[in-house]
Amino acid sequence: MGTMLAQKQSETVNLFIYFTSCEDHSTMKQPTTLTTAIFATCAMLLTACGGGTNSSTNPGTNSTPNSATNTASTTSTSGSIPIGIAFAQTSNVALLGQEGVAGVKIAEKYFNDKGGVNGTPIKLVFQDTSGDEAGAINAFQSLINKDKVVGIVGPTLSQQAFSADPIAERAKVPVIGASNTAKGIPEIGDYVARVSAPVSTVAPLSIKAALKQNPNIKKVAVFFAQNDVYSKSETEIFQKTIKEQGLEIVTVQKYQTSDTDFQSQATNALNLKPDLIVISGLAADGGNLVRQLRELGYKGVIVAGNGLNTAKVFAVCQQACEGVIIAQAYNSEQPGEVNKEFRAAYLKQYQEEPPQFSGQAFAAVQVYVEALKALDKKSKISQVPLNQLRTELNKQLLTGKYNTPLGEIAFTPVGDVIQKEFYVAQIKIDKDSKKTKFVVLK
Ligand code: ALA
Repeated sequence: MGTMLAQKQSETVNLFIYFTSCEDHSTMKQPTTLTTAIFATCAMLLTACGGGTNSSTNPGTNSTPNSATNTASTTSTSGSIPIGIAFAQTSNVALLGQEGVAGVKIAEKYFNDKGGVNGTPIKLVFQDTSGDEAGAINAFQSLINKDKVVGIVGPTLSQQAFSADPIAERAKVPVIGASNTAKGIPEIGDYVARVSAPVSTVAPLSIKAALKQNPNIKKVAVFFAQNDVYSKSETEIFQKTIKEQGLEIVTVQKYQTSDTDFQSQATNALNLKPDLIVISGLAADGGNLVRQLRELGYKGVIVAGNGLNTAKVFAVCQQACEGVIIAQAYNSEQPGEVNKEFRAAYLKQYQEEPPQFSGQAFAAVQVYVEALKALDKKSKISQVPLNQLRTELNKQLLTGKYNTPLGEIAFTPVGDVIQKEFYVAQIKIDKDSKKTKFVVLK
């Protein structure tokens, strides 16, 4: 693994370059030239690394209090292990980010109730990334420099990860992406891994499921958000799969994630009489696009990508959501013990089935907890200087196997998730209860 890790060279991309293309970012990697002196000299003991003073950013008034979060102060004597959470709690992207927040909060209580890291509780430190790159950069800088976290979960979007992850890479702070699915995320650097399976693994499943449901599909219209790197990455996979399945792409329509009016692109596409429409975008724009396609009379099949994989989209597309097919990397009925407990806790707290982004966020915290436990067994982590602990944690987490709500996962040497179980779901509106939900296709 050491050799492979060594191959995973660090980014030198300017911190403030915002990526707008969907090229393979891994090809942009070059040797590290920056060092972060502040971390090289940070030799404070773990117990002296409190969780920061960010109570204003600690989200959610509906969290269940637990002993760990109640006793862990933000002072240097808290005695808890700070793990940074950088999700979008505001902006349109909060439709996805809030599900991540819900998942990590369940994880914090779950693992602390089980004794934390060999008796020491974890403490999640939240910084809101909002929806853009600047927000993610700020959140990472606060978590690394002010909150002194041992590792970070996030950010919400791949578009943010390509700007923020290099900061953690330079500071040698581990990052686990819990919703970043674009090509090239783990290749950002040695310290970047993800538990969110990439578009290349997940996206083809939904096209195949649509064809299974309707083998007469011939003509496909593709839509994607051209200002979002995950959407561009996913549409490449969708378009490849569509061609491999012998279908014809009659049009590719581009839009922006900030768009709310899709009349012109939708009309252009519908004039070509597609039997299948495939969308790569985020929840707000994608949901509005679905609704406007139906309002314009489209009755064919719709496949949507990972950015619409949230129950939050139901409020956006409403009845028009019915029938949309989405591949998923998590199923709340996954039979493992951890998932049963996660699901029960989630149902109790939120009165709904846990969604994918919550399951993945839980898994990311789990990876940190189990890797910290393994390290602590080798030598007490409270005695290890923070910069050394971050580096050891990064190495350790890549070597483990984890029984998570996603099923058993592990990591490739470069930090991509190895996962066995995937699903395809369809949005259905229950006739009686009028409730909208994802129903897994068998
Ligand atoms: N999967 C989406 C992304 O990677 C949320 O940006």
